[in-house]
Amino acid sequence: MPAHKVLLMGGGAGVVGSGVLAEIAGRYEIRSYHRTPAPSERGKVEFVSGDVGEVGRFPELVRGVDSIVNVVWYRQPGPDRLFARTEASLRALVSAAQAAGVERFVQISLPPATSRLESRTPYLYHKRAFEKEMGASGLKVTLLQPSAIFAPQDRLIHVMLDLMQRHRRFPLFGDGGYHLSPIWHQDVGWLVGEALEDRLSGTVLAGGPQRYTYLELLELLQRYVPQRVKLVRVSLPTGRLAVQFFNALGWHVLYTYEYDWLVSDLLGFAAPSHPGREFRTLESFLEEGRHA
Ligand SMILES: NC(=O)c1ccc[n+]([C@@H]2O[C@H](COP(=O)([O-])OP(=O)(O)OC[C@H]3O[C@@H](n4cnc5c(N)ncnc54)[C@H](OP(=O)(O)O)[C@@H]3O)[C@@H](O)[C@H]2O)c1
Repeated sequence: MPAHKVLLMGGGAGVVGSGVLAEIAGRYEIRSYHRTPAPSERGKVEFVSGDVGEVGRFPELVRGVDSIVNVVWYRQPGPDRLFARTEASLRALVSAAQAAGVERFVQISLPPATSRLESRTPYLYHKRAFEKEMGASGLKVTLLQPSAIFAPQDRLIHVMLDLMQRHRRFPLFGDGGYHLSPIWHQDVGWLVGEALEDRLSGTVLAGGPQRYTYLELLELLQRYVPQRVKLVRVSLPTGRLAVQFFNALGWHVLYTYEYDWLVSDLLGFAAPSHPGREFRTLESFLEEGRHA
């Protein structure tokens, strides 16, 4: 039987992509499209160099492809024209995919945010517009909506641990009562594999196995920092001003829209009720780091 060919948009080297590659390499032929070759992909993929904003210009990219997995989007909040260009480019990719007989599109999406964020943030509304179009395309579509993802090089847990270690102080925004359910990047990759096998479709919220309040998460991380870390309580409006201030200085550990999303308490959803795998806990990941 000919191999099932997957176009991995954004490649297998990022936070999500590395989890996807770890789960599906060897089971599929993978064509990986992103900007810079990654040593971790060598021998596992056919690398094609390019920018997602240009992908619509290369319909030949989908030739012979059965499924597309898209792990790329931008994290920085603007400007509108950047996201509009990427949305248009991805729409052209979907048209090319339809014409080439591609069956399936698995998209790493984002969980619902507040209506204010959804309507005002180009990062969000262009992604949603693309996903809506894709949903109407006739392709089999799976939209995976992960909560915060942890991985060897993630931008959440590692950044928090690093800041705690360096400054021995860490901000607690408000009462820290809003939630997160962090998910391991390979568990996201496994869900992608399930979608490729036709066992998962539609829109799937993907939390991890444990739901923490932000305060509980900070208290957990404190245990993995050798120094004593003091949590400094700041009110929600002051926290937001501080994030805006640091963003204006070019320091982007947390963008303002990410802050608003975090404190809106919309990121603490459960793991998908899908049989076949016990998801990794954040604690087991932190324990492994402690002994590494
Ligand atoms: N991380 C999270 O906690 C989280 C949670 C929920 C949803 N998501 C979603 O997951 C997706 C991936 O996030 P991530 O954290 O894995 O990001 P990441 O670690 O920054 O990885 C992004 C990957 O995409 C490629 N890429 C970036 N810009 C590109 C461009 N202009 N053209 C082509 N390829 C490009 C990069 O490779 P090159 O540099 O070689 O191009 C990189 O391998 C995003 O859609 C994000 O919204 C992430």
